Amino acid sequence: MKTIFSGIKPTGDLHLGNYFGALSQWVDLQHDHHSIFCVVDYHAITVPQDKKALHNNIIAIARSYLAAGIDPKKSIIFRQSDIKEHTELAWILNCTSARMSDLENMTQYKDAASKQINPSVGLFDYPILMAADILLYNTDTVPVGHDQLQHVELARDLAKRFNHDYGETFKIPSALIRSEGSRIMGLDDPTKKMSKSIGENNCISLNDSPEVATKKIMRAATDSDTVIKYDPANKPGISNLLTILSILENKKIKDLEKEFTDCGYGQFKQRIANSVSKFLTNFQEKAKHYSDEQVLTILADGQKQVEPLAATVLAKVRTQLGL
Ligand code: TYM
Repeated sequence: MKTIFSGIKPTGDLHLGNYFGALSQWVDLQHDHHSIFCVVDYHAITVPQDKKALHNNIIAIARSYLAAGIDPKKSIIFRQSDIKEHTELAWILNCTSARMSDLENMTQYKDAASKQINPSVGLFDYPILMAADILLYNTDTVPVGHDQLQHVELARDLAKRFNHDYGETFKIPSALIRSEGSRIMGLDDPTKKMSKSIGENNCISLNDSPEVATKKIMRAATDSDTVIKYDPANKPGISNLLTILSILENKKIKDLEKEFTDCGYGQFKQRIANSVSKFLTNFQEKAKHYSDEQVLTILADGQKQVEPLAATVLAKVRTQLGL
């Protein structure tokens, strides 16, 4: 069975982009893969975090995995900082295979660093920690949204370089990006990807009430035209809304275009608001089933399951290096 590994940073509520780009894929893949899902808390601290909020966010993200349908009987859910091998391997990769020029080329770093006055070294080094996360578990496939593709490609490059320089050690992973929904755009600015850090009206949080989500959708930026057509270059707002509806209702975009031929934008948005509200109510209902204690028990159980896997790969790496 092939292994999949992926993770989400506990830096606030998840949004529809995280769900479509990552979580929903994981839920489907877990049935026929050895599945490992991580709450990547060491990635969260690359920018300043409030101690209490971080603790609560770690539990909240793990709870979202469960509410989305990750089944702890089929998949492993664990917290990155519980497994010391992640940071150990990141250090080793820093010294052996990673180059300054690799990291200087990372578009996410350039974007995140431009928002900080004096960014941490961790923010710069973040893709190496992500490579360590992936390589520690002999991962075949990394299901992520489009914005993480460059990081997964770096993990591949580092694995190849290490294997070349020190002997066959790592499995070479590949990214898995879904054809639709890998890049959900912001509602208020559909030329940029949906993101927690942009602002209130940019994203639909998985914890938004149906009323709040409806307001955001009704206000979503569109265009001065009246046609409901998928055309990301000229109609980014309508195209993004079509993508969201097509995933939620499991319908083809072409069929939705036909269905909405004679409808105005208001009616179209109302339908999306109804579908999103239904989805959110269902998700939030499921999330209520897991107490903090239950979530922490699942994370502790996950820790026990991944500990020997990570230790085995790190031991091999150390041997290859003569440590
Ligand atoms: P993060 O926490 O920023 O995002 C989590 C996942 O959500 C996807 N995503 C989106 N997908 C579609 N449309 C969007 N607008 C959108 N915004 C976010 C991301 O692509 C991601 O899959 N570095 C990673 C976390 C990480 C990781 C890993 C992932 C750390 N180690 C190892 C995979 C494997 C990150 O910051 O994702």
